[in-house]
Amino acid sequence: MSHQTALSILELFFLEYIKKEYRSKLCWEDGILRDDITQHTTREVADFYQTSPFPNYQGFENKASLTRVIFENQFLNDLKNHIGLNKKIVEVGSGTSQLSLALATGTNNFVLAMDPTIHSLKIGRDFARKNNINNVVFLNADLFADPIENGFFDVVWCSGVLHHTSDPEKGFEIISEWVIDDGLIIIGLYNSFGRLRTNIRQIIFRLFGKSNFAKRIVSKMDPYLRRELSAEKKQAWWRDQYEHPIETKFTIEDVMRWFDQNNVEFLGSIPCATFESDLKSIKDMRGDRGTYVTRLYAQLGMVFSTSAEGGLFITIGQKKKQRRN
Ligand SMILES: C[S@@+](CC[C@H](N)C(=O)[O-])C[C@H]1O[C@@H](n2cnc3c(N)ncnc32)[C@H](O)[C@@H]1O
Repeated sequence: MSHQTALSILELFFLEYIKKEYRSKLCWEDGILRDDITQHTTREVADFYQTSPFPNYQGFENKASLTRVIFENQFLNDLKNHIGLNKKIVEVGSGTSQLSLALATGTNNFVLAMDPTIHSLKIGRDFARKNNINNVVFLNADLFADPIENGFFDVVWCSGVLHHTSDPEKGFEIISEWVIDDGLIIIGLYNSFGRLRTNIRQIIFRLFGKSNFAKRIVSKMDPYLRRELSAEKKQAWWRDQYEHPIETKFTIEDVMRWFDQNNVEFLGSIPCATFESDLKSIKDMRGDRGTYVTRLYAQLGMVFSTSAEGGLFITIGQKKKQRRN
């Protein structure tokens, strides 16, 4: 049975990652810090994910298998090594919080997994309990409420989230304040070109009246859904890709502009903004922006890439030092 408790004075004191004026609004509910979600779009999206929390689990994962996923993914493995120990990380829109849990495992880092969908966070919390992962805090909140202390986190990660919000650019402006000077900010968004294949399948689904027949055809066309996955994971992917109420798309240039406007230095992107095809490690990323042609080439290439299913591209930035008086 879940129960809500107001925060004690001591707990309020230790919530240093939450803005002072926001702390007393929160309460604990079964190991999750909770706020009221009031913004209309965020509520709508959170309700949507209540049915099929994303990305969901296969049912057999444990700490070791999550660590393995990181190890086998070149970028995530490099990121985890780059972050090192004794750091503070926030995953904005963590869903079932698999990445937060994987980044926390085997480290003394403090990880904040934040999402407005309570059902998703409960799945993450249960996983943490079962696997004895004690360095992740779960926060049920809306990024637009701006609850996080500015300049607190070494790493801000936000992937697959802003394109499902009412104002992605404003959302970026808010979360880019949460990172420390020289800290990393990593953003994953649907790409205007890279998502074309999914968009075509979405159109087919609609043309066939969103019927079960249409769902069967489109499921056969979607390489992700052809994989050996649990029914829950497939259902989460299906709803996320084909039934989402809010979805927008962006280019590498769009994120470069957001970076420029918010004092964030562009380090690199996946796919790479230049003609280079090898993935550089973060410490070797030099911020080469390429040209319009190289960026177009990279983003069009996503349409033909099997690893870019869903059309998500990643942009990595570093907060510039602020001049303080
Ligand atoms: C597609 S899921 C991505 C989950 C996770 N980041 C991943 O990549 O596996 C999108 C998540 O964004 C969350 N989200 C949507 N609007 C949000 C907001 N305003 N603030 C924070 N998270 C939000 C949703 O609740 C959902 O869990």
